[in-house]
Amino acid sequence: MSVFRTTYIRFKSFLPEPLREALSAINQKLFARRTLQRKYGDWFDIDWRKKFRSLSEQEWKHSYNEAWKHRNNDCVEETDATMIVAALGDRGSVLEVGAGMGTLAIRMAKEGFHVTGVDVSDEALQRAAERAKEAGVAITWKEGFAESLPVADKSFDYVTCCHTLEHVKDLAKATSELRRVARKKIIVLTPKQKFRLYAENYHTQFFERKEQLVEEFGLSRYECEEIDCIDHQNEFQGKAFFYVGYLE
Ligand SMILES: C[S@@+](CC[C@H](N)C(=O)[O-])C[C@H]1O[C@@H](n2cnc3c(N)ncnc32)[C@H](O)[C@@H]1O
Repeated sequence: MSVFRTTYIRFKSFLPEPLREALSAINQKLFARRTLQRKYGDWFDIDWRKKFRSLSEQEWKHSYNEAWKHRNNDCVEETDATMIVAALGDRGSVLEVGAGMGTLAIRMAKEGFHVTGVDVSDEALQRAAERAKEAGVAITWKEGFAESLPVADKSFDYVTCCHTLEHVKDLAKATSELRRVARKKIIVLTPKQKFRLYAENYHTQFFERKEQLVEEFGLSRYECEEIDCIDHQNEFQGKAFFYVGYLE
């Protein structure tokens, strides 16, 4: 990130909320679309948020493969991974949904969990598999959508889904799938974020309050807290929701 952009983000974070909102509205109206076009070129679908509902599974996969070819979408940070591993508890099997290039999956495998990683992008999974090999851990990789997970009911002790729920087309289907396949816990990390039409990612779901996540999963036993997400300050003001839902 350029020094100018970092300084601007810092400066903005000190402003009162209404002023920040006004600046963002001006940016959205006048600059955001063109800036993104210039920055990313043709591979990036600037109008994703307008049209994602009409995309086929093939188009979805293709877009994420392109995204992974052109840029690094590795979001999980060391601090997040440590928190997630601590929340998992006893060793067992984990399904990591939206595994990307495998950072969290590899970390969990190193900690002694039996890990399977799912992602829509075979491009990402290929990278993940190479990294797992380099790290000397055995992980099963599967191509698939969070909305229709390619695994049996209650087949994993734990399900993790980190920086991915905000990318799915159908949130209700995805959360119901996470519930279907987990036996003990579901662990989710997702940004605290307001909807903007133009942005540097393919987000489709926006969580402004932690209650949205809690209601979506509908579990009676859960913990959900707002946390700092240090490296992502440009996109969602550095806040995220960390959700742990208990199934037993
Ligand atoms: C921002 S990346 C996060 C990757 C990783 N979990 C991390 O935290 O670094 C979002 C991931 O979700 C995947 N993805 C997008 N839509 C998906 C869907 N409907 N089901 C499963 N994965 C999806 C993308 O290919 C990408 O790897």
